[in-house]
Amino acid sequence: MASCTRFTGIRELLTLVPTGASPDEQLGRLENAAIDCDEKGRVVWVGESAQAPHRDALEVHDLGGAVVLPGFVDAHTHIVFAGDRTQDFAARCEGVSYEEVARRGGGIRLTVRETRAASHDQLTLLALGRLNDLVAHGATTVEIKSGYGLTFEDELKILEVIARLQERSPARLVPTLLAAHIVPDEFRSDRGAYVRMIIKELIPEVTARGLAEHVDVFCEDGAFTVEETLQILEAGRSHGLGLKVHGEQLTRTSISAEAARLGALSVDHCEHASREDIEVMAACGTTAVLLPGASLFLGGHARAPARALIDAGVAVALSTDCNPGTCPSRHVTLMATLGCSMLGMAPHESVQALTSMGARALGLRDGTGTLDVGSPCDLAVCDIEGWRSLPYAFGSRPVREVWIAGRRVSQRDGTIPAP
Ligand code: NIG
Ligand code: FE
Repeated sequence: MASCTRFTGIRELLTLVPTGASPDEQLGRLENAAIDCDEKGRVVWVGESAQAPHRDALEVHDLGGAVVLPGFVDAHTHIVFAGDRTQDFAARCEGVSYEEVARRGGGIRLTVRETRAASHDQLTLLALGRLNDLVAHGATTVEIKSGYGLTFEDELKILEVIARLQERSPARLVPTLLAAHIVPDEFRSDRGAYVRMIIKELIPEVTARGLAEHVDVFCEDGAFTVEETLQILEAGRSHGLGLKVHGEQLTRTSISAEAARLGALSVDHCEHASREDIEVMAACGTTAVLLPGASLFLGGHARAPARALIDAGVAVALSTDCNPGTCPSRHVTLMATLGCSMLGMAPHESVQALTSMGARALGLRDGTGTLDVGSPCDLAVCDIEGWRSLPYAFGSRPVREVWIAGRRVSQRDGTIPAP
């Protein structure tokens, strides 16, 4: 068996290893490139194909003139849930706000009821369909949050489902505990007891069983206060979890600066982040994960200050936020378009945001999100003229094939059968 696979026929390759200041250089663009991948699925050589080294045992795979990028990192999803929120959506189309829908008994609470009633098997099947769709859109690393269980048992059930998904999907999954999504009805009169349950029971159990890498909190009016959020994040940190927060989404709470000071990997949403919040995030090296699909689906009024974040030196990632309430879309590359057209990002910044910046938001330091020697050989193979078409070709499906660790996991051949 060949010990090495060589990918050729790459018209344009983005390594995401910067070589200079121009957009092409920031993306590490190469023309007529090749990639060599070893039997462990790691990149062992990348460069112009004319320079490729001689190898005795080589299997060559011609990608037919494609544009090739690192597989995308979707650093923020909530794909394990049952039911849908079509009724909420209909109400919102009539002008009822997301917050008001939640007060009327819809929103996250509705999904929690349906998710609690679903079995491991049902949830696994539902989530696997969503995950496969994300992969078909080019995602090769996917963060998945719990957060629709909100009891000790149901939060564990969701994390166990994520572990099962990892057995059934080639994608690299990153599980996050989001038990602090909202305070469940049973604890309304004693919210402190729910926070204590998360801190004293759930976080120790989840970390002892290795079921999550990160902890996340929805800090918002109607969810958790800044004080509660910091208590939960500190407990997560003391158990070795990475810290994430849903911050400044619907209102400004100032959690982004507080979480950044605590060493959070990322603050996600940021629609209402202030100048001071942005400065603290920049100083602390906290990544901003922006979710323009959620802004769009909620009416497009509140948009994250992507330009101010980037100009201040904050690393900015873009993710789907795939969830039943604020962004049911699994269209990963659409988020690059929305990053540009709604948030004012430059096209090359939107490509970085789906790849190297997504990996940064997850604390991945193994080369994920880049194609360099040692990186996982995860490829998004696109049928486009050049990388600029990726954010530009709004709503199209640029990704033709997806490879994870040097193995093809998704293919769409685009041919339309003759009548
Ligand atoms: O990221 N903001 C909180 N969580 C999700 C929405 C969850 C839901 O509405 O079901 C979000 O937008
Ligand atoms: Fe979210």
